[in-house]
Amino acid sequence: MGRLLNYRTATLVVALLATMVASAFSANFYDEFDLTWGGNRGKIFGGGRMLSLGLDRVSGSGFQSKKEYLFGRIDMQLKLVAGNSAGTVTAYYLSSQGPTHDEIDFEFLGNETGQPYVLHTNVFTQGKGNREQQFYLWFDPTKNFHTYSIVWRPQHIIFLVDSVPIRVFKNAEQLGVPFPKSQPMRIYSSLWNADDWATRGGLVKTDWSKAPFTAYYRNFNAAACTVSSGSSFCDPKFKSSFTNGDWQVGNELNAFGRRRLRWVQRYFMIYNYCADLKRFPQGFPPECRSSRL
Ligand SMILES: *[C@@H]1O[C@H](CO)[C@@H](O)[C@H](O)[C@H]1NC(C)=O
Repeated sequence: MGRLLNYRTATLVVALLATMVASAFSANFYDEFDLTWGGNRGKIFGGGRMLSLGLDRVSGSGFQSKKEYLFGRIDMQLKLVAGNSAGTVTAYYLSSQGPTHDEIDFEFLGNETGQPYVLHTNVFTQGKGNREQQFYLWFDPTKNFHTYSIVWRPQHIIFLVDSVPIRVFKNAEQLGVPFPKSQPMRIYSSLWNADDWATRGGLVKTDWSKAPFTAYYRNFNAAACTVSSGSSFCDPKFKSSFTNGDWQVGNELNAFGRRRLRWVQRYFMIYNYCADLKRFPQGFPPECRSSRL
Protein backbone atom coordinates (compact mmCIF):
# COMPACT_ATOMS: atom_id res chain seq x y z
CA MET A 1 0.00 0.00 0.00
CA GLY A 2 2.73 2.41 1.08
CA ARG A 3 4.71 1.56 -1.98
CA LEU A 4 1.67 2.04 -4.23
CA LEU A 5 1.00 5.42 -2.66
CA ASN A 6 4.59 6.46 -3.17
CA TYR A 7 4.45 5.33 -6.75
CA ARG A 8 1.24 7.31 -7.27
CA THR A 9 2.70 10.39 -5.63
CA ALA A 10 5.82 10.09 -7.72
CA THR A 11 3.75 9.79 -10.89
CA LEU A 12 1.75 12.83 -9.88
CA VAL A 13 4.88 14.85 -9.19
CA VAL A 14 6.35 13.83 -12.54
CA ALA A 15 3.12 14.77 -14.33
CA LEU A 16 3.03 18.11 -12.51
CA LEU A 17 6.65 18.84 -13.37
CA ALA A 18 6.00 17.92 -16.99
CA THR A 19 3.10 20.39 -17.11
CA MET A 20 5.24 23.09 -15.53
CA VAL A 21 8.07 22.47 -17.97
CA ALA A 22 5.62 22.45 -20.88
CA SER A 23 4.13 25.79 -19.86
CA ALA A 24 7.56 27.25 -19.11
CA PHE A 25 8.63 26.42 -22.66
CA SER A 26 5.41 27.25 -24.40
CA ALA A 27 5.58 30.46 -26.32
CA ASN A 28 4.13 33.80 -25.38
CA PHE A 29 1.01 34.77 -27.34
CA TYR A 30 2.14 38.41 -27.51
CA ASP A 31 5.34 37.34 -29.29
CA GLU A 32 3.79 34.82 -31.64
CA PHE A 33 0.32 36.05 -32.66
CA ASP A 34 -1.65 39.10 -33.72
CA LEU A 35 -5.34 39.52 -33.02
CA THR A 36 -6.48 40.38 -36.52
CA TRP A 37 -10.23 41.01 -36.42
CA GLY A 38 -13.21 41.25 -34.11
CA GLY A 39 -12.02 44.22 -32.04
CA ASN A 40 -11.78 43.44 -28.34
CA ARG A 41 -13.59 40.12 -28.72
CA GLY A 42 -10.14 38.54 -28.98
CA LYS A 43 -7.88 38.86 -25.96
CA ILE A 44 -4.39 37.91 -24.87
CA PHE A 45 -4.09 37.73 -21.10
CA GLY A 46 -2.30 36.08 -18.19
CA GLY A 47 0.97 37.72 -19.20
CA GLY A 48 0.72 36.24 -22.70
CA ARG A 49 0.06 32.69 -21.58
CA MET A 50 -3.61 32.70 -22.55
CA LEU A 51 -5.67 33.80 -25.50
CA SER A 52 -9.42 33.85 -25.99
CA LEU A 53 -11.68 34.51 -28.95
CA GLY A 54 -15.23 35.74 -28.66
CA LEU A 55 -18.34 35.71 -30.82
CA ASP A 56 -21.49 37.77 -30.40
CA ARG A 57 -24.35 38.85 -32.62
CA VAL A 58 -22.22 41.57 -34.24
CA SER A 59 -18.99 39.73 -34.97
CA GLY A 60 -16.66 36.83 -34.38
CA SER A 61 -12.92 37.27 -33.94
CA GLY A 62 -9.62 35.81 -35.02
CA PHE A 63 -5.86 35.77 -34.76
CA GLN A 64 -2.91 34.80 -36.91
CA SER A 65 0.72 33.94 -36.35
CA LYS A 66 3.39 36.53 -36.87
CA LYS A 67 5.65 33.83 -38.31
CA GLU A 68 5.37 31.79 -41.48
CA TYR A 69 6.15 28.10 -41.26
CA LEU A 70 7.42 25.57 -43.74
CA PHE A 71 7.19 22.16 -42.05
CA GLY A 72 7.09 21.56 -38.35
CA ARG A 73 5.20 20.15 -35.45
CA ILE A 74 2.72 22.67 -34.13
CA ASP A 75 0.83 22.10 -30.89
CA MET A 76 -1.92 24.19 -29.38
CA GLN A 77 -4.25 23.54 -26.49
CA LEU A 78 -7.86 24.59 -26.99
CA LYS A 79 -10.90 24.65 -24.77
CA LEU A 80 -13.97 25.07 -26.94
CA VAL A 81 -17.18 27.05 -26.49
CA ALA A 82 -19.13 25.37 -23.70
CA GLY A 83 -22.87 24.87 -23.26
CA ASN A 84 -25.03 25.50 -26.27
CA SER A 85 -22.42 26.10 -28.98
CA ALA A 86 -24.72 25.12 -31.89
CA GLY A 87 -24.07 27.20 -34.99
CA THR A 88 -20.59 28.28 -33.90
CA VAL A 89 -17.40 27.17 -35.60
CA THR A 90 -13.92 27.39 -34.15
CA ALA A 91 -11.43 27.07 -36.98
CA TYR A 92 -7.77 26.41 -36.30
CA TYR A 93 -5.60 25.95 -39.36
CA LEU A 94 -2.43 26.54 -41.32
CA SER A 95 -2.71 28.33 -44.63
CA SER A 96 -0.61 29.99 -47.30
CA GLN A 97 -1.81 32.85 -49.48
CA GLY A 98 -3.27 33.14 -52.95
CA PRO A 99 -5.49 31.15 -55.33
CA THR A 100 -3.23 28.07 -55.35
CA HIS A 101 -2.81 28.07 -51.60
CA ASP A 102 -2.17 25.10 -49.34
CA GLU A 103 -4.13 24.61 -46.17
CA ILE A 104 -4.32 22.17 -43.25
CA ASP A 105 -7.56 22.49 -41.29
CA PHE A 106 -9.05 21.68 -37.94
CA GLU A 107 -12.61 22.97 -37.62
CA PHE A 108 -14.70 22.39 -34.52
CA LEU A 109 -18.42 22.46 -35.22
CA GLY A 110 -20.44 23.34 -32.14
CA ASN A 111 -23.59 21.62 -30.96
CA GLU A 112 -26.47 21.83 -28.52
CA THR A 113 -25.67 21.30 -24.85
CA GLY A 114 -24.71 17.67 -24.27
CA GLN A 115 -24.50 16.83 -27.99
CA PRO A 116 -21.13 16.03 -29.49
CA TYR A 117 -18.88 18.49 -31.25
CA VAL A 118 -17.72 17.46 -34.69
CA LEU A 119 -14.05 17.80 -35.57
CA HIS A 120 -13.83 18.51 -39.27
CA THR A 121 -10.46 18.18 -41.03
CA ASN A 122 -9.36 19.03 -44.54
CA VAL A 123 -6.19 19.37 -46.60
CA PHE A 124 -5.88 21.80 -49.51
CA THR A 125 -3.04 21.55 -51.98
CA GLN A 126 -2.55 24.02 -54.82
CA GLY A 127 -5.95 25.57 -54.04
CA LYS A 128 -7.84 22.29 -54.14
CA GLY A 129 -9.48 20.84 -51.03
CA ASN A 130 -12.46 18.45 -50.94
CA ARG A 131 -10.56 16.06 -48.71
CA GLU A 132 -12.83 16.12 -45.68
CA GLN A 133 -12.68 13.72 -42.79
CA GLN A 134 -14.87 14.23 -39.73
CA PHE A 135 -14.68 12.81 -36.25
CA TYR A 136 -16.38 12.81 -32.91
CA LEU A 137 -14.03 13.16 -29.97
CA TRP A 138 -13.64 10.66 -27.13
CA PHE A 139 -13.95 13.44 -24.53
CA ASP A 140 -15.90 16.64 -24.00
CA PRO A 141 -13.67 19.31 -25.60
CA THR A 142 -15.38 22.10 -23.64
CA LYS A 143 -14.54 20.81 -20.14
CA ASN A 144 -10.75 20.95 -20.32
CA PHE A 145 -7.91 21.98 -22.56
CA HIS A 146 -6.80 19.36 -25.07
CA THR A 147 -3.83 19.41 -27.41
CA TYR A 148 -4.42 19.59 -31.15
CA SER A 149 -1.30 19.11 -33.25
CA ILE A 150 -0.28 19.27 -36.85
CA VAL A 151 2.84 17.40 -37.84
CA TRP A 152 3.83 18.64 -41.28
CA ARG A 153 6.80 16.99 -42.89
CA PRO A 154 7.87 16.40 -46.49
CA GLN A 155 6.61 12.79 -46.17
CA HIS A 156 3.18 13.43 -44.68
CA ILE A 157 0.80 15.53 -42.63
CA ILE A 158 -0.41 13.97 -39.39
CA PHE A 159 -3.29 15.35 -37.33
CA LEU A 160 -3.04 14.49 -33.64
CA VAL A 161 -5.44 14.95 -30.75
CA ASP A 162 -3.76 14.57 -27.36
CA SER A 163 -0.93 12.76 -29.17
CA VAL A 164 -3.33 10.29 -30.77
CA PRO A 165 -2.97 10.27 -34.57
CA ILE A 166 -6.43 10.75 -36.08
CA ARG A 167 -5.51 11.36 -39.70
CA VAL A 168 -2.51 10.86 -41.96
CA PHE A 169 -2.26 12.57 -45.33
CA LYS A 170 0.68 11.00 -47.08
CA ASN A 171 2.77 12.66 -49.71
CA ALA A 172 1.33 11.10 -52.88
CA GLU A 173 3.23 13.14 -55.44
CA GLN A 174 4.24 9.94 -57.18
CA LEU A 175 0.50 9.46 -57.87
CA GLY A 176 0.25 13.00 -59.22
CA VAL A 177 -1.26 14.57 -56.09
CA PRO A 178 0.36 17.88 -55.17
CA PHE A 179 1.78 18.05 -51.65
CA PRO A 180 2.29 21.24 -49.60
CA LYS A 181 6.04 21.67 -49.60
CA SER A 182 7.02 25.05 -50.96
CA GLN A 183 4.50 27.63 -49.79
CA PRO A 184 5.07 28.86 -46.22
CA MET A 185 1.93 28.90 -44.10
CA ARG A 186 0.72 30.98 -41.19
CA ILE A 187 -1.38 29.69 -38.32
CA TYR A 188 -4.89 31.12 -38.18
CA SER A 189 -7.78 30.73 -35.84
CA SER A 190 -11.23 32.21 -35.73
CA LEU A 191 -14.50 31.84 -33.91
CA TRP A 192 -17.48 32.68 -36.10
CA ASN A 193 -21.12 32.07 -36.77
CA ALA A 194 -21.85 29.40 -39.39
CA ASP A 195 -25.36 28.41 -38.40
CA ASP A 196 -26.35 28.09 -42.05
CA TRP A 197 -24.44 24.77 -42.21
CA ALA A 198 -22.48 23.86 -39.07
CA THR A 199 -24.83 22.02 -36.75
CA ARG A 200 -26.87 19.15 -38.14
CA GLY A 201 -26.33 20.63 -41.56
CA GLY A 202 -27.75 24.05 -40.57
CA LEU A 203 -30.93 22.82 -38.88
CA VAL A 204 -29.88 24.11 -35.46
CA LYS A 205 -29.30 27.85 -35.28
CA THR A 206 -27.09 29.86 -32.96
CA ASP A 207 -28.85 30.78 -29.72
CA TRP A 208 -27.81 34.42 -29.39
CA SER A 209 -29.28 34.64 -25.91
CA LYS A 210 -26.19 32.60 -24.87
CA ALA A 211 -23.71 35.05 -26.44
CA PRO A 212 -20.94 36.00 -26.09
CA PHE A 213 -19.39 32.64 -26.94
CA THR A 214 -15.78 32.10 -25.94
CA ALA A 215 -12.99 29.68 -26.92
CA TYR A 216 -9.66 29.52 -25.05
CA TYR A 217 -6.09 28.81 -26.15
CA ARG A 218 -2.89 28.09 -24.28
CA ASN A 219 0.47 26.27 -24.47
CA PHE A 220 1.29 27.03 -28.07
CA ASN A 221 4.40 25.19 -29.13
CA ALA A 222 6.05 25.11 -32.53
CA ALA A 223 8.98 22.84 -33.28
CA ALA A 224 9.16 24.12 -36.81
CA CYS A 225 11.01 25.72 -39.67
CA THR A 226 10.16 29.38 -40.05
CA VAL A 227 10.64 31.41 -43.19
CA SER A 228 11.34 35.08 -43.24
CA SER A 229 12.36 37.19 -46.24
CA GLY A 230 13.13 34.08 -48.25
CA SER A 231 15.41 32.31 -45.81
CA SER A 232 14.44 29.38 -43.67
CA PHE A 233 15.45 28.62 -40.10
CA CYS A 234 14.71 25.23 -38.57
CA ASP A 235 14.33 25.01 -34.82
CA PRO A 236 16.52 22.07 -33.67
CA LYS A 237 13.40 20.83 -31.83
CA PHE A 238 11.94 20.04 -35.27
CA LYS A 239 14.64 17.40 -35.86
CA SER A 240 14.14 15.93 -32.43
CA SER A 241 10.39 15.71 -33.10
CA PHE A 242 11.32 12.91 -35.53
CA THR A 243 12.78 10.75 -32.81
CA ASN A 244 10.87 7.84 -31.45
CA GLY A 245 7.90 8.88 -29.40
CA ASP A 246 4.84 7.15 -28.12
CA TRP A 247 3.20 6.99 -31.55
CA GLN A 248 6.05 7.12 -34.01
CA VAL A 249 9.33 5.59 -34.91
CA GLY A 250 11.55 7.82 -36.99
CA ASN A 251 9.10 9.53 -39.29
CA GLU A 252 6.57 6.72 -39.49
CA LEU A 253 3.76 5.69 -37.20
CA ASN A 254 4.83 2.79 -35.04
CA ALA A 255 2.57 -0.19 -34.30
CA PHE A 256 0.99 1.65 -31.37
CA GLY A 257 0.41 4.78 -33.47
CA ARG A 258 -1.20 2.71 -36.23
CA ARG A 259 -3.39 0.96 -33.69
CA ARG A 260 -4.51 4.27 -32.21
CA LEU A 261 -5.25 5.63 -35.69
CA ARG A 262 -7.34 2.56 -36.53
CA TRP A 263 -9.19 2.89 -33.20
CA VAL A 264 -10.12 6.49 -34.00
CA GLN A 265 -11.06 5.66 -37.58
CA ARG A 266 -13.21 2.78 -36.46
CA TYR A 267 -15.07 4.29 -33.53
CA PHE A 268 -14.97 8.05 -34.00
CA MET A 269 -14.75 8.79 -37.71
CA ILE A 270 -18.11 9.93 -39.06
CA TYR A 271 -17.17 11.01 -42.55
CA ASN A 272 -14.34 10.08 -44.89
CA TYR A 273 -14.24 11.44 -48.43
CA CYS A 274 -12.19 8.40 -49.40
CA ALA A 275 -15.21 6.21 -48.59
CA ASP A 276 -17.93 8.41 -50.10
CA LEU A 277 -18.94 6.42 -53.18
CA LYS A 278 -21.86 8.73 -53.96
CA ARG A 279 -19.47 11.60 -54.31
CA PHE A 280 -16.88 9.78 -56.38
CA PRO A 281 -18.83 7.32 -58.54
CA GLN A 282 -16.01 7.32 -61.11
CA GLY A 283 -13.41 6.33 -58.53
CA PHE A 284 -11.74 7.88 -55.54
CA PRO A 285 -9.04 10.55 -55.75
CA PRO A 286 -5.60 8.95 -56.18
CA GLU A 287 -4.34 9.79 -52.68
CA CYS A 288 -7.09 7.60 -51.23
CA ARG A 289 -5.15 4.58 -52.47
CA SER A 290 -2.18 5.47 -50.30
CA SER A 291 -4.19 6.54 -47.26
CA ARG A 292 -4.86 3.00 -46.10
CA LEU A 293 -2.52 1.80 -43.44
C1 LIG B 1 -24.77 17.36 -33.03
O1 LIG B 1 -25.56 16.41 -32.41
C2 LIG B 1 -26.32 15.59 -33.29
C3 LIG B 1 -27.21 14.69 -32.46
O2 LIG B 1 -26.46 13.95 -31.54
C4 LIG B 1 -25.35 14.81 -34.18
O3 LIG B 1 -26.07 14.04 -35.13
C5 LIG B 1 -24.42 15.77 -34.92
O4 LIG B 1 -23.43 15.04 -35.64
C6 LIG B 1 -23.73 16.67 -33.91
N1 LIG B 1 -22.77 17.60 -34.47
C7 LIG B 1 -23.02 18.52 -35.41
C8 LIG B 1 -21.92 19.44 -35.71
O5 LIG B 1 -24.07 18.61 -36.00
